[in-house]
Amino acid sequence: MLMLVKSGGEAALPEWRQAFAEADPRLEIRWWDDPSVRPEEVRFALVWDPEPGRLASYPNLGLILGSGAGVDGILRDPFLPKGVPIVRLATPGAAQRMGEYVCWAVLSLLKGARRWAVNQAAGRWEYFEPRFAAPECRVGVLGLGVLGGRAAAMLAALGFRVAGWSRSRKAIPGVESFAGDGELDPFLARTDILVCLLPDTPATRGILSAPLFAKLPEGAGLVNAGRGAQQVFADIVAALDAGRLSGAVLDVFEEEPLPPGHPAWSHPKILVTPHCASLAPKAERARFAAEAIRAWERGEPLPNRCDPARGY
Ligand code: NAP
Ligand code: GLV
Repeated sequence: MLMLVKSGGEAALPEWRQAFAEADPRLEIRWWDDPSVRPEEVRFALVWDPEPGRLASYPNLGLILGSGAGVDGILRDPFLPKGVPIVRLATPGAAQRMGEYVCWAVLSLLKGARRWAVNQAAGRWEYFEPRFAAPECRVGVLGLGVLGGRAAAMLAALGFRVAGWSRSRKAIPGVESFAGDGELDPFLARTDILVCLLPDTPATRGILSAPLFAKLPEGAGLVNAGRGAQQVFADIVAALDAGRLSGAVLDVFEEEPLPPGHPAWSHPKILVTPHCASLAPKAERARFAAEAIRAWERGEPLPNRCDPARGY
């Protein structure tokens, strides 16, 4: 059974081959642009950002595996073959890593880590008191899916007062659930540090902008580990400079890699990380993909199945 891979560049192929040899030796792993592959042989595709129309050129394609948790790079293809299911490789290890990143980012905002770093670069020994300890600090997570749900639970375990916002109501122990557009404003009003873990969809694009910041308490913190398209960078800077936001940790940007000279690199209240919040090891993603393929062969429900009509 032939699987085409386009994730991590051609240099990553030997590692994918090794991972799939252990996860399901029936799979023959070939590079996306391998000229010797005949289109009718292709049964599976593991991809991050396939060029539009390519997936539709494989008449026997059974299953598309999104190599990460977000599938915006796949759903961008206007010619996606209809009826071919898409599974996201949002594995437990990816959720654990995202939870770790979010806890680090929220603790960094809580403690003033960016200010420490600026002071260190200047050789300045300055004592300052953080505004809160975790039990006084209300964290709000936008998106309570595979990653957001785990991050919220880990924040709650650290003692933060945690709530989350999603389309449907959730029951996560220690996490207050707000659901739907009608509950966004009360969710924001009770949020001292806002974490974005939403998928990139028409409904979420540009959500992190001035009108939303105006609904947060004065001096709130912001973490974006969702997608760059969800933030209006100029509004973040304006809110930071006006004190409406007190600090931001940004892992994702409209243009990646973040270009040299971009104002985010040097802003004293922004911590930049290079889209590294969470990615599970290839071996774990290959095991997850192999299980999804076996479920697909048996006609069983697929894990983390994306709904293109919903956009995530
Ligand atoms: P997921 O399981 O699909 O969860 C998405 C969550 O967002 C769900 O709770 C969903 O609500 C909610 N949501 C979607 N649209 C909404 C809307 N319009 N209003 C309110 N809630 C909405 O996705 P995931 O696996 O947690 O991943 C989330 C995103 O994280 C990915 O799409 C990707 O962009 C990003 N990500 C970033 C990194 C990184 O390294 N920075 C790594 C992995 C993923 P329901 O539960 O009600 O459907
Ligand atoms: C990374 O951004 C992912 O979506 O897995």
